[in-house]
Amino acid sequence: MQDQAMLMNKIVSLAKRRGFVYPGSEIYGGLANSWDYGPLGVELKNNIKNAWWQKFVHQRDDMVGLDAALIMNPRVWEASGHLATFSDPLVECKKCHERFRGDQLISKKCPACQGELTEPKQFNLMLKTFLGPTASLEHAAASKSTNEVYFRPETAQAMFVDFKNVLDTTRRQIPFGIAQIGKAFRNEITPGNFIFRTREFEQMEIEYFIRAEDWEGVFESWRKEMHAWMINDLGLDKKKIHELEVPRDELAHYSKRTIDFEYDFPFGRDELYGLAYRTDFDLKNHYAKPPYKDPATNETFYPHVIEPTWGVDRSVLAVLCNGYTEEENRVVLKLPARLAPYKAAVFPLLANKPDLVQKARTIYKNLQLTTDNFGPVAWDDRGNIGKRYLSQDEIGTPFCVTVDFQTLEDNTVTVRDRDTTKQERVEIDKLIDYLREKV
Ligand code: GAP
Repeated sequence: MQDQAMLMNKIVSLAKRRGFVYPGSEIYGGLANSWDYGPLGVELKNNIKNAWWQKFVHQRDDMVGLDAALIMNPRVWEASGHLATFSDPLVECKKCHERFRGDQLISKKCPACQGELTEPKQFNLMLKTFLGPTASLEHAAASKSTNEVYFRPETAQAMFVDFKNVLDTTRRQIPFGIAQIGKAFRNEITPGNFIFRTREFEQMEIEYFIRAEDWEGVFESWRKEMHAWMINDLGLDKKKIHELEVPRDELAHYSKRTIDFEYDFPFGRDELYGLAYRTDFDLKNHYAKPPYKDPATNETFYPHVIEPTWGVDRSVLAVLCNGYTEEENRVVLKLPARLAPYKAAVFPLLANKPDLVQKARTIYKNLQLTTDNFGPVAWDDRGNIGKRYLSQDEIGTPFCVTVDFQTLEDNTVTVRDRDTTKQERVEIDKLIDYLREKV
């Protein structure tokens, strides 16, 4: 267990040191559990989101996208049931006043000081704010101002609220899905474990609209899609992925069946993604009349919904944990090439030989400016070549291209593979094709 805690510390420290994830607002002493994605983190995160969008939106005929406002009319949350039921049991220690989630405690005593705990109170997780000018936030809160709004706790509701708009503007017929990637906010009682549980996070969600009688088959096919994503696209270790059938009495208020996909993080097995059968709960609550008309029969009805949902930040974390590898003389981040922040790095063997530097610079620029957007490429001419390899290994760059003296004679470069450390000589003219094929 201690090894695992140490492993997690090493991943967090690498993430900060190499510019993947920084503590939020750090120069002001931070803000509890807020994190900023640095230059490499934003590339990794965008690569995950782009791979997802390409797979689940662009490469399918039955999907359309959406990018809705983060703040919606508060009546949305009344209709969706979030105002009434989106809460966790909160307990407080009578001695040290630390607060905990009642359903996550093993003992009835305070884990921090063994003090006595209060009875659990339901604490609504929605993050509140006030829209437009108010005399003061205190005044607005005291007067139960009509300006009171919530940051969305899930991206899903916009897909229901815009369902009719999407139907009217795209002439879709069920089965079809609406996909969205965006931020969600929850006033979590116990955030933690780095970017695993935060109060501001990002989701990739699909609401897939179907006929009620088809739900079991569609649920099953999304279950397979989600497995394929975790294994083929994120490259996660199959043995670390588990399914949890959520017991009936723990289902969210809208769900008739939910499977959680769990991953063995260094801090333990925990939820990565979810798959839920939301029935017609949401559309029924938002629309007074059935919003869908079957074009063949003219029958109107409320479609049912299967909802596969993916956390972006948890995807980043799983990919980092899965890829982090310590070998005898190096630390390697074995990221799938497609997700790696840099696709390749280019070095001149020696920084003080202008011929080598110039040649390497040309190759670097050519790779960077390939018309099909090969992806970001790193440049490094510091220190010795061994150190540069180690530095790229640690951030997951799949290939290092070195220009050496032989390059000046025969127009070939060495390409070193991150995982095997083997080197191959490749003609410069064929370099882009060579790398593209592997990436
Ligand atoms: N629309 C359904 C829904 O929101 P959820 O299981 O509450 O379902 C979906 O959330 C996913 O969002 C989770 O599986 C997880 O990946 C991510 N997620 C939820 N709460 C989170 C938090 N506080 N921090 C980071 N990610 C979170």
